[in-house]
Amino acid sequence: MEQDDPAEALTELRERRPGAWELLQVAAGSGLAAYAVWALLLQPGFRRVPLRLQVPYVGASARQVEHVLSLLRGRPGKMVDLGSGDGRIVLAAHRCGLRPAVGYELNPWLVGLARLHAWRAGCADSVCYRREDLWKVNLRDCHNVSVFLAPSVLPLLEDKLQAELPTGARVVSGRFPLPTWQPVAVVGEGLDRVWAYDIHRGGPVGQAASGPGSASVPGVPGSHAG
Ligand SMILES: C[S@@+](CC[C@H](N)C(=O)[O-])C[C@H]1O[C@@H](n2cnc3c(N)ncnc32)[C@H](O)[C@@H]1O
Repeated sequence: MEQDDPAEALTELRERRPGAWELLQVAAGSGLAAYAVWALLLQPGFRRVPLRLQVPYVGASARQVEHVLSLLRGRPGKMVDLGSGDGRIVLAAHRCGLRPAVGYELNPWLVGLARLHAWRAGCADSVCYRREDLWKVNLRDCHNVSVFLAPSVLPLLEDKLQAELPTGARVVSGRFPLPTWQPVAVVGEGLDRVWAYDIHRGGPVGQAASGPGSASVPGVPGSHAG
């Protein structure tokens, strides 16, 4: 169709509705873009991890980081974040005096980003980010463990922590509680909530089930809800 008048052509273009073919192209384009982000940024590192153990990256909120630190501050011994993402918890832990502070993360992009943040903070030589599978790291010398993982992997994580952590170790879990351990402290609300668990003589203190919504810890000295 010939269109001599540019104004008319513009009006026609504005009023035209996208056809099914164009909609299909947009949908395919968006799908491809989403796949590229997943394949390039999120998937690297996970190829050898079984699907049921894969946990996507979601950074801890500032409040969550604050709560993790309130439960670990002043404690001696090595601190590790299992699945350290962009390294924010490890960096904050180092800044509040936990030494050494180490992050284990599978995604190489996130390990790189964490190192960049540490470098910009002037802590490049003092915090450590390792590209390792958290399920293969031995935790026997870790006295302070932070986790923010998916509920689906927490039962298996409980077994690993119980088998490997030394007496006196503390585990803090962000957003989701460990399914069967009894927390000694709970801080924060909603998505920012963090649970603390202490290991005594080869196991966690108490092992009664605590519901996911539990905000206080009856009968546990020193426990508190934030
Ligand atoms: C929900 S994010 C938490 C990130 C960080 N801890 C924070 O609180 O900001 C979970 C992280 O665990 C990492 N991850 C999942 N499975 C892992 C594994 N098997 N070994 C190491 N890192 C893993 C993911 O890549 C992701 O960065």
